[in-house]
Amino acid sequence: MSFDTSQENKSRLSLHSYDEIWIFGYGSLIYKVDFPILDRKPASIKGWQRRFWQGSHDHRGTPESPGRVLTLIEEGDSECAGVAYRVSHDVFEHLDYREKNGYLRHEIDIHFDQSNLGDLEEPEIKAGMVYIGFDNNAAYLGPASEQEIAQQIHHSIGPSGRNDDYVFQLVDSLRALGDVDEHVFAIEFWLKELAKK
Ligand code: SIN
Repeated sequence: MSFDTSQENKSRLSLHSYDEIWIFGYGSLIYKVDFPILDRKPASIKGWQRRFWQGSHDHRGTPESPGRVLTLIEEGDSECAGVAYRVSHDVFEHLDYREKNGYLRHEIDIHFDQSNLGDLEEPEIKAGMVYIGFDNNAAYLGPASEQEIAQQIHHSIGPSGRNDDYVFQLVDSLRALGDVDEHVFAIEFWLKELAKK
């Protein structure tokens, strides 16, 4: 598979069957919203977990010295919280380019936050899109200990900025949403330890 998945994404899933399109963000899409949105809601997806197992050659690292960013790993009964955005079809031109470093658009059930749900209301679930770096993409790095991941992130920088900023902005957003992600928070812990040295 090529390092640039933007062309593959264009031909992969037709968006025309959707009268409204929701995109689920679990990483930088939570805090860096550089595209027009029609609506925004806290949401989650079931059966997937966030992991810093995807390499970044174009945003938070370089091809010679890749950073580490998030992808999703399938995991039984787990749940990954994030934010869903309703967008118009043409936004995918920009998003496919932004997420081109190995991510493929994947159809997924998005569960909207149910904390304010009244007794008689049905839970709201909609089919939408999510970007996933599957383990066969050319930039995929795979598992490492959380301490090793933090070490790589600590030393990485790319055209979109420092790799540790990706983590710190994400943890701020997750805390603001009231979400706990042990993997992400463990990496934040190790990054803060490294910064003390
Ligand atoms: C996402 O945020 O949903 C995809 C991964 C990323 O761009 O960090």
